[in-house]
Amino acid sequence: MKILVVGGGGREHAIIMKLAESKRVKKLYCAPGNGGISRYAECFDVKATDIVGMVDLAKKLSADMVVVAPDDPLVLGMVDALNAEGIMTFGPDKAAAAIEGSKVFSKELMKKYGIPTAAYEVFTDSAAAVEYLKKQNSYPAVIKADGLALGKGVIIAQNEEEAVNAVHEMIDNRKFGESSARIVIEEYLTGPEVSVLSFTDGKTVVPMISSMDHKRAYDNDEGLNTGGMGTVAPNPYYTEEVAKECMEKIFLPTVKAMNAEGRTFKGCLYFGLMITPKGARVIEYNCRFGDPETQVVLPLLDSDLCDIFEAVYNGTLSDIDIKWKNEACACIVMASGGYPLSYPKGLEMHGMDDKGQVDNVFVYHAGTKYENGKFYTNGGRVIGVTASGTDLPSALEKAYGAVEKISFENAHYRKDIGKKALAALK
Ligand code: AMP
Ligand code: GLY
Repeated sequence: MKILVVGGGGREHAIIMKLAESKRVKKLYCAPGNGGISRYAECFDVKATDIVGMVDLAKKLSADMVVVAPDDPLVLGMVDALNAEGIMTFGPDKAAAAIEGSKVFSKELMKKYGIPTAAYEVFTDSAAAVEYLKKQNSYPAVIKADGLALGKGVIIAQNEEEAVNAVHEMIDNRKFGESSARIVIEEYLTGPEVSVLSFTDGKTVVPMISSMDHKRAYDNDEGLNTGGMGTVAPNPYYTEEVAKECMEKIFLPTVKAMNAEGRTFKGCLYFGLMITPKGARVIEYNCRFGDPETQVVLPLLDSDLCDIFEAVYNGTLSDIDIKWKNEACACIVMASGGYPLSYPKGLEMHGMDDKGQVDNVFVYHAGTKYENGKFYTNGGRVIGVTASGTDLPSALEKAYGAVEKISFENAHYRKDIGKKALAALK
């Protein structure tokens, strides 16, 4: 098979490397890809959101399958456009991608079908939202933009001033454009967070190995929210008991609810969960593989990813036996100094071989460029240095060991990835 992967980050690099293990895969393409990905797959300069351009590219390459990895093309309906041309895809159609594309839609879905999540109200008018905040007078308050906002659309306001500011910024100043014309104000929950990605064909749902993201920029969960500074898998808070509860109360009900709404979800459905004292709650759904969760989950997959993607498309997922390695995996993101705000690009990187790799680990490239045999930074999150091991301490040791060997000016990474997970294991 010839497979085209849409996107150009660490997640896409991880999908490509797992597909490359399949005997059925003859050729891998990526658009737009990045420097590191270009060493393993042929890259094409088509933007991930360019639906017409991507359909043309898939036809030109006679791709047998297109994997649409990022949220924005999914929400824009790239899968619908490819399917209309008879091209096999992995990823939900536009109607199903609304589960991530609109927080209002996903909250209403959960309310209607009794899926546990934080209590909430929806607002389009800032005065009404402010009045509600004042009446509730409960902080922290959680304020979320309805639509996609590059992972930055959630504000945890510690007091009234911050909350009122967030409301004005989102609704009146359209901080995230039309994505913040509507907002959700929800109850603040506490407890450890767990990411569970799952494969689903709309009938069967198969959770992958659980993982834990580290969203804040600095150690001890300080600093701004980022796309994710590192991940570990499995997540020790996702016990067998929690897994059972999630399957019964969250995973299956969500898949059934989407069917009942005429929005059958086929692809990777991501459950962002919080394990509260009252049980597991959905914090968010994503309609795609998480980044950098994928970088620690897919290396542990011990089955053919191409077979799984095909079964999801054909609605035959129940026929497939999906196996996982009994190991742990850790990914340390090396970011440009200044991320997630402003940062330079084009800095020369040192310490990696000609494939962008270092011994003992796998380096998933997120924002790099490859020119004349050298790698240069080309984004906020630059690489995700990933190692697996028999247990989490050995995976972390290998990953951090390799991070020490790679350098670029002002590189920033967290030194405490996996610390919480290790504490929970004790
Ligand atoms: P999201 O982009 O929806 O995943 O939200 C980003 C982060 O905000 C989550 O990973 C949580 O840490 C936090 N968060 C979101 N919703 C809530 C909530 N209702 N209560 C507490 N924290 C939340
Ligand atoms: N790492 C969280 C996400 O992909 O949304």
